[in-house]
Amino acid sequence: MKFGIILGSTREGRVSPQVGEYIKKVASAREGHEFEIVDVKEYNLPFMGTATPNLAWNEKINELDGYIFIVQEYNHAMAASLKNALDSAREEWFNKAAGIVSYGSGGGIRAAEQVRLVLAEQKVADVRTNPAFNLFTDFENFSDFKPGDHMDAGVNDMLDELLLWSQALKGIRA
Ligand SMILES: Cc1cc2nc3c(=O)[nH]c(=O)nc-3n(C[C@H](O)[C@H](O)[C@H](O)COP(=O)(O)O)c2cc1C
Repeated sequence: MKFGIILGSTREGRVSPQVGEYIKKVASAREGHEFEIVDVKEYNLPFMGTATPNLAWNEKINELDGYIFIVQEYNHAMAASLKNALDSAREEWFNKAAGIVSYGSGGGIRAAEQVRLVLAEQKVADVRTNPAFNLFTDFENFSDFKPGDHMDAGVNDMLDELLLWSQALKGIRA
């Protein structure tokens, strides 16, 4: 199966690429599956409904069998860029599974829980385990991502759940 590691933030100086690469490294130990970084910033998505949509985004979301969302917390919520990316596709998301990896000063869990509400409406089954990284302990100077080795276990739990559900949901897609 093919999975997208979706980088939700787009600001200059963002740390999401570092978090995404770490998840890709851990995930790539799973043989027989592909994990690719899907960077919202590269798609330059218009604010939904204000300009011609970038259908390359919809094609990419459609071709993937599941997702790992890299979720950052801005003002106790998910980044607007991630919400816009979620809103910018519809059926392409349906009947897939997802894992959520979050970060922020409190692990980004308020944003992560909000992503779950949106995924429910987009018919995405989000798995329970949410690896949550803390800006104070998992980053140096709030910018250099240095997760402890102990965090790999949570990421692997999330991956186990994601692969299981993705396999099951593949069976109900046409
Ligand atoms: C506008 C803004 C609001 C933020 N609000 C919160 C917040 O409410 N809670 C939190 O834990 N971190 C907050 N942060 C810290 C971010 O989670 C942190 O900067 C993180 O690195 C952002 O992800 P990014 O680097 O991928 O953009 C905020 C950062 C910004 C830029």
